[in-house]
Amino acid sequence: MTAIALGADHAGYPLKEDLKAWLGARGYEVVDLGTRSSESVDYPDFAAAVALAIISGKAERGVLVCGTGIGMAMAANKVPGVRAAACTDSYTARMSREHNDANVLALGARVTARDAAIEILDAWLSAPFAGGRHARRVEKLGALERVRGAAEERLDAKAR
Ligand code: RB5
Repeated sequence: MTAIALGADHAGYPLKEDLKAWLGARGYEVVDLGTRSSESVDYPDFAAAVALAIISGKAERGVLVCGTGIGMAMAANKVPGVRAAACTDSYTARMSREHNDANVLALGARVTARDAAIEILDAWLSAPFAGGRHARRVEKLGALERVRGAAEERLDAKAR
């Protein structure tokens, strides 16, 4: 069974708890990386924790919740190997799996109600990556990460 890392900021905390209960009831192994209250925190810290769980292999998928899902997706996508999709409906959630092989789903607790969020999560978890021509495109996403890495190395070398 797939291990799923969960992360949220204060805005996403109550929805994260609902999603955790829903996933647990369906037998998923859940790795809850916080936050654990509605006290104000910074979403990039939790996006980073979930991203690292993915790239280290501790979890196969990640779910992040903030107010809109946008900040979480932006932060998680900074980590090479992460493909985070901010989704507000089941269709884009399914497409993010079938076409983009998204390994992180970002949800917005201020824009998506609990039941809709569960529908989106269910659609996202059920959809397989379609492969084929989409595999070539996803490989090109990875190539962009390497271009960025090479550019950063050149800048570092100049600074020395
Ligand atoms: C927190 O107020 C809010 O900015 C955050 O949850 C998120 O929506 C950022 O993208």
